[in-house]
Amino acid sequence: MSRIYEALQRAELEWKATQDSESSRAPAPDCLPPIEESPAVEDVVAPGNIAQHAWKLSIPSLPTLTERSAAGEQFRSLRSRIQQACYQAPLKTILVSSGMPSEGKSFVAVNLAISLARNTVSSVLLIDGDMRRPTIHNLLGASNTPGLSEYLSGATELNDIVQRDRRPVTDESSDARKISNLAFIPAGKCGDNSSELAANHRIEKLVSALSPHFDWILIDSPPVLAVTDAVELARAADGVLLVARAESTPFDVAQRAQAAFSNSRILGFVLNAAKSAPSAGAYNYYYGSEVADDRAKSGTDSRRKP
Ligand SMILES: Nc1ncnc2c1ncn2[C@@H]1O[C@H](COP(=O)(O)OP(=O)(O)OP(=O)(O)O)[C@@H](O)[C@H]1O
Ligand SMILES: [Mg+2]
Repeated sequence: MSRIYEALQRAELEWKATQDSESSRAPAPDCLPPIEESPAVEDVVAPGNIAQHAWKLSIPSLPTLTERSAAGEQFRSLRSRIQQACYQAPLKTILVSSGMPSEGKSFVAVNLAISLARNTVSSVLLIDGDMRRPTIHNLLGASNTPGLSEYLSGATELNDIVQRDRRPVTDESSDARKISNLAFIPAGKCGDNSSELAANHRIEKLVSALSPHFDWILIDSPPVLAVTDAVELARAADGVLLVARAESTPFDVAQRAQAAFSNSRILGFVLNAAKSAPSAGAYNYYYGSEVADDRAKSGTDSRRKP
């Protein structure tokens, strides 16, 4: 027997021995544990599959629900400016932010979302990205958990966090009809790790998975001069809409908020709660923006002091 033949035989025996021991370690096919696959995103966001909750809308904070209110008109105007901004560059995901607390980010985000959703051809996803002081669930009267923070921490899947209103759409003018195109992801449980969650890039994964299924995605955020979350979340957005509060936001705060998003496409400022048109000099630094200074006017002003 030649030495080459012997070597080949030894190699074959060794190979067989490895195969036998591998197959003795592997469980028989019928003993394999069932593979738990999460539902496809298409299944999750099919209108009938989104979890339905009975929302209790806070009507005084949602003037866009009311026919012919002055604020409703202002939000329609903002909506059309945003739609026009699409012609300059693709725009679907918008982060709403501002420099300081209480300037009206959540008020603008939720009312703009409703205004977009009332345009019946648009399906809208509103995400509460303020995982420190979430408020949007209160305005919609929705549950706040599970939500974004649970998804970003890997504790839950997409299908657990998207919700919509359960009430039947009875007639054309009902509130349920006005928000029937609106889906919502609440902020989830608040913790002191929201900066890390916002920065872990799962938000980009979430937006790219859901983006094909919605016409608009709005993300509310905490004040950018206080914490870094908004800048991190802005990476998932096509543009940033800034809010300044009339007679309250100092000029330099608005400027610094704008500078904080230097890596993002700034759509412009919403001048919120203005009682009258801005004076010529006061806000002319906004005019270069794609969406100029819209005003969400309202008689009531129940703001908290920063
Ligand atoms: N245009 C407006 N008319 C009347 N009330 C308003 C208006 N804008 C905001 N508010 C009220 O002011 C308060 C603060 O607004 P909001 O919660 O939207 O601010 P925010 O910027 O999201 O604050 P935070 O940074 O704490 O999240 C809320 O009670 C809200 O209802
Ligand atoms: Mg807010």
